[in-house]
Amino acid sequence: MKKKIFVPTMGALHKGHASLIKEGSKIGDVIVSIFVNPTQFGANEDFDSYPRRKEDDFAYAISSGAKEVWFPTLDEIYPDGPFISESSGELGSILEGSFRPGFFDGVLTVVKKLFQIVEPDVAIFGEKDWQQLVLVKEFSKMFNGPEIMSVKTKRDNNGLALSSRNSYLSKDGYSQSLYIPEALLKVKTAWSEGLRDVRTLEAIGIDFLSEKISKIDYLEVRPSFLLPKLDILNQDARVLVAAWVEGTRLIDNEELTL
Ligand code: PAF
Repeated sequence: MKKKIFVPTMGALHKGHASLIKEGSKIGDVIVSIFVNPTQFGANEDFDSYPRRKEDDFAYAISSGAKEVWFPTLDEIYPDGPFISESSGELGSILEGSFRPGFFDGVLTVVKKLFQIVEPDVAIFGEKDWQQLVLVKEFSKMFNGPEIMSVKTKRDNNGLALSSRNSYLSKDGYSQSLYIPEALLKVKTAWSEGLRDVRTLEAIGIDFLSEKISKIDYLEVRPSFLLPKLDILNQDARVLVAAWVEGTRLIDNEELTL
């Protein structure tokens, strides 16, 4: 019997999602879910304006290799109304979690419900949301959920990580956003030259980025599994960033391997 592979998404599908579907279809039948999950949006975030393109998304998922596309209703996922049942703990309270309190509790809540309904053998997540990936891996292990597979971040020709939220950017905003991957590459270059001091690595990225972008939520260098935060790194690591361009919050990360 073919493996059941699950790609959970919030829609507004792009080549990043297509790469998850394509990887999945190499090992089994892919089911894609498209559900804009209310419990992972803060009160002042873009839940209402988040792009919803049902027909286009359906066609795109199928043409990327999905066997099935599922649009859960709010009632299917939250029969008693939107409600957070999971806690993401310390790992969910750093980086994204410190700027978006409750975000990962909402993510884990919906991921658990989706897993329980779909019952996949494998679920696939992108590396662009690195903290989400690390959390979901731990979480799925904890409740004997599916194996979690990850796929590298897809970038456009100029290096910008693909994201559904990139569609909010104007031409100028797009040009400004390219400084984000450039800042990560500056840190990566210093790392590959042998720099291991976390504060100095972070300063290289922040100094470069803050000349171009006024609102940076964080640019941090951490061990690959994010905790504990260390001063000197002698292991594989990640540089992670969140910054605002024209009112749109963009996140990205790069791996720093030994
Ligand atoms: O990464 C996303 O698109 C969402 O956080 C997810 C995993 C589909 C849960 O709503």
